[in-house]
Amino acid sequence: MLAVKEIKFSEEMLKQVDEIIKRYPEGKEKSALLPVLHLAQAEFGWCSTEVMDQVASVLNIKPIEVYEVATFYTMFHVKPVGKYVLEVCRTGPCCLVGAEKIIKYLEDKLEIKEGETSADGLFTVKGVECLAACGTGPVLQIGPEYTFYEHLTTDSVDQLLEDLKGRKQ
Ligand code: FES
Repeated sequence: MLAVKEIKFSEEMLKQVDEIIKRYPEGKEKSALLPVLHLAQAEFGWCSTEVMDQVASVLNIKPIEVYEVATFYTMFHVKPVGKYVLEVCRTGPCCLVGAEKIIKYLEDKLEIKEGETSADGLFTVKGVECLAACGTGPVLQIGPEYTFYEHLTTDSVDQLLEDLKGRKQ
């Protein structure tokens, strides 16, 4: 089980939240929800209920309004994730060129199911919607930089996993 950091927005985070809110008209704090969720996820690793409640609190909106958004968009993780989240496009065009085979290969190789994290805590496999690289599928991205890996094959997946395992940080 991955450790969960204490859920408290730091002074620096609160300052950033204020700056984000200022981008929107007065009284429209809710418009800042997506960037504030990104900020919170980057800080705490995933959007736990406690994190989402904090987001609701700083934006002065109801927690359910945050849950609805965080559970809708696949870029938000509503359960703990591994060091590398392999977000594999599972939309039609990528499926036509083997996305499902890639997801199954990752599941078998890492001994997990889609949405789960490998036992070593390194990899989470997530099926996501179109990544706007439909001409170069199958494709996956890895955050937080959102590096793309295109024209995936089982060999290139093997290579990618080895490269990631070999990274220092
Ligand atoms: Fe996979 Fe668009 S369908 S990137």
